[in-house]
Amino acid sequence: MKKKWMFAAVFIVLFFFVLYLIIPQEEKIEEVSFMKNSSESLLSVNRMINIAHRGASGHAPEHTIKAYELGEKMGADYIEIDLQMTKDGELVAMHDADIDRTTDKTGFVHSFTLKELKEMDAGSWFNLESPGAAQEAYKGLKIPTLQEVFEHFGSDANYYIEIKQPDESPGMTAALIRILKEYQLIPAEREGAIVIQSFSKESLLEIHQQEPDLPLIQLLSYKQPAQITERELSELREYATGIGVNYLYLNESFIKDVREADLLLHAYTVNEKREMNALINWGVTGIFTNYPDRLSEVLGK
Ligand code: G3P
Ligand code: CA
Repeated sequence: MKKKWMFAAVFIVLFFFVLYLIIPQEEKIEEVSFMKNSSESLLSVNRMINIAHRGASGHAPEHTIKAYELGEKMGADYIEIDLQMTKDGELVAMHDADIDRTTDKTGFVHSFTLKELKEMDAGSWFNLESPGAAQEAYKGLKIPTLQEVFEHFGSDANYYIEIKQPDESPGMTAALIRILKEYQLIPAEREGAIVIQSFSKESLLEIHQQEPDLPLIQLLSYKQPAQITERELSELREYATGIGVNYLYLNESFIKDVREADLLLHAYTVNEKREMNALINWGVTGIFTNYPDRLSEVLGK
């Protein structure tokens, strides 16, 4: 009889041990060690900002008003907007240089007028690609202009704007500055309400020359573990507030070098909580994510 009880006890212990091993351990996340609810500026070194990458683009078609609305609702600090320019000089929210992936038509953005782009369906592709997140309401969504985004979200929102393909469309920086002024978003009422990012150093320098107070993030493209020299860091400091780097190439020592140089470091594009936590503990000051809800949970918001 005693043996039977012992066998049962061993069996129960083993059963729970196996269960512990096979259940995903998402909840066993290390506590992050930065200031979570600081009232300081969004660009303070003590903040970790949540950037809704192309909106909450894991939940809704990227670069649509719906995706940006969800981003805000899910606690993102910033709406990220990639900019392309149309044939008739309008700035629209679109990541790719062409419309093939995210609309029902094909061709380059710069070969269409705004009117032509407005006729396209920028939502249905998402339903086909992400059936788990598909919604009837996404069908037929339109490509928004930068002005429409500002009209919709107003001056209380924070915008993290990327200038894409400036070489293809000269005049993008001038158009961007004109629109920011038109909507009285510069000079910014709150520090960090507008952030401009680009892989193009020329575009950032052009902006810096005209609007020296506008925070700029230099995007850097690494294809192997990131490294940076003192000289590169001091050149960056002359015009940029920080850098944006693909998280896959980040490492703790690079992050330390960048932070010690007084530059912010924003990692893109991080969608898993475990990776968000690791990066935060390494010291990044911002994360672009398609799932701002997950990052909000990690940040305890
Ligand atoms: O903006 C940072 C990051 O978004 C750059 O990647 O290709 O998604 O614009 P991409
Ligand atoms: Ca971007």
